Amino acid sequence: MILKMEESIREFQFQIIKSKMTANPNVRLVLEDNGVKGEHRVRDLRPIGVRENGKINAVTMDSDISTEVTTRESGCQILCDPGVAYYSSRLQTERIATAEEAKRLSDAIGSPIRVADPFCGVGPALAHMINIPNLVSSVLATDLNPGAIRLLNENLRRWMRLPFDIDNTEFTEWGEGLWSGVADAGQLEKMKVPMDFWNLLIINLPHKFLRFLPLLLPLMDSSKPYVVRGRLVCGDDEIPQIKTKISEDLPDGSDIIIDPRSEYSPSSKLCSVTIRTPDSST
Ligand SMILES: C[S@@+](CC[C@H](N)C(=O)[O-])C[C@H]1O[C@@H](n2cnc3c(N)ncnc32)[C@H](O)[C@@H]1O
Repeated sequence: MILKMEESIREFQFQIIKSKMTANPNVRLVLEDNGVKGEHRVRDLRPIGVRENGKINAVTMDSDISTEVTTRESGCQILCDPGVAYYSSRLQTERIATAEEAKRLSDAIGSPIRVADPFCGVGPALAHMINIPNLVSSVLATDLNPGAIRLLNENLRRWMRLPFDIDNTEFTEWGEGLWSGVADAGQLEKMKVPMDFWNLLIINLPHKFLRFLPLLLPLMDSSKPYVVRGRLVCGDDEIPQIKTKISEDLPDGSDIIIDPRSEYSPSSKLCSVTIRTPDSST
């Protein structure tokens, strides 16, 4: 369980931890959240309560308790470590929607699809799709954070039953159509990733969505309809201009949906983005 702890209630910290852990018997560890930081978007966390042999204890400053944990989403098990790599259980509905989008795309194309997730973190979006039989034929899973890639490789090993060397975080083609590793999404072309090949692109880097979209579109197989799913932070009244700007890089007739989901700041919104290009063969 991850909690924000206001200074005004700090003196009651242990009572709060105890009541939360008593009410939620599956919680092993309570972590204080000091926000998401840096390029890797990792949470600054401090363990403050732990369940040991059924007893709830406070955690001392110098303890080295592991923050690695396995979560479950729609029947998928995802290994993550919120102290090492970004993971948010709140994005589960977005991931379910992405998997639905992937199924529609696969039906439209008439074959399993090729999915590129160049900001993949520990791979939660991929989990939902890989676990659907015959939906995905190729995967590109890359991230700047080596800690995220180690967890991702362990997840891929479990989901795909492949003999991964999880400590090898270098960009690697593990088998036909399966690439993972540390990579800057802006440098994929230089890393011999196939271009003009992918059917579904995921861009979950909300502050830089607009910067990366044009850099990543050359990945997409433009001979077939393709889909981009992502998240984007923008000013309250910027959505119409952003749609116009995005459409300049896309085939005519593309459907661009920018759906505000929550307040990001008093004057900006966090939006879910779906882009569908038309089927030019019909
Ligand atoms: C908001 S997190 C999303 C992670 C994952 N897609 C998820 O939904 O859990 C953004 C991720 O992008 C990675 N990242 C940031 N800049 C990057 C870049 N230039 N190239 C590749 N990955 C990057 C961070 O390390 C982080 O894991």
